[in-house]
Amino acid sequence: MKALIVYGSPHGKMSATYRLGSNFAKGLKDQDWAVDELILDDIEIKHCLGCYVCWRKTPGVCVQKDGMEEIIQRHKDIDLLVLAAPLYFYSVPGKVKVYWDRNMPLYVSEFQKFSGQAVKGWTDSFKFLLISTCGFPLKENFDGLVISAKKIYGPAYAGEILVPMGTAISQDTDGTKYTEFYEFFYKAGKEYGSTNNLSGETKKTFDLMTGTDSMRELIKSKQ
Ligand SMILES: Cc1cc2nc3c(=O)[nH]c(=O)nc-3n(C[C@H](O)[C@H](O)[C@H](O)COP(=O)(O)O)c2cc1C
Repeated sequence: MKALIVYGSPHGKMSATYRLGSNFAKGLKDQDWAVDELILDDIEIKHCLGCYVCWRKTPGVCVQKDGMEEIIQRHKDIDLLVLAAPLYFYSVPGKVKVYWDRNMPLYVSEFQKFSGQAVKGWTDSFKFLLISTCGFPLKENFDGLVISAKKIYGPAYAGEILVPMGTAISQDTDGTKYTEFYEFFYKAGKEYGSTNNLSGETKKTFDLMTGTDSMRELIKSKQ
């Protein structure tokens, strides 16, 4: 099985979403998955021109020649796509939005389906998981992001793992303080790697861990 993890924080490897997502990736690898890890900030991509050439004139191929060509290639033949990105203004950092817009060539099959052609849509061919962190306490902060991701990934959307008050994890620069979280994400990756799912029990454990009172207590205990 093959997974692609896309990291969307401008802080790259020094971000909470990288620390959590890379532990999830480790769990998948320990279940013998081939895992490709892509830090968006390492790759130059220009914004979408909105020309629709990738749908109409050269289906599946963007007119712009930049880092997105490599990114698109890395999305081919995957079983799982994970986006690990922080919440920025109830959505994603600008680079992730540019990446989403530049996914247009991958959506040519959705466009063809919409136009009545009997093709399999791109989002029918893999599963998608969202990992995100935010600064404020309430999970409701993620509502807009979750709705967007569900719309974008459609049938591929398989769930989310969301950490409010995650700025504390961003600041764990040597990755030694929030071991409970790193272990949880590792175990979640292992579980997904062996069952293609996250169990109700795992989700329940995580909900308890990330409740406002539990988070406040945990952060206080690490100071
Ligand atoms: C430009 C910007 C916008 C942000 N918007 C929100 C927001 O809408 N809600 C929130 O709770 N936190 C917000 N945050 C806080 C980040 O989501 C939080 O610090 C996150 O844990 C950073 O993750 P990272 O270390 O993976 O980059 C914002 C931070 C920045 C810099």
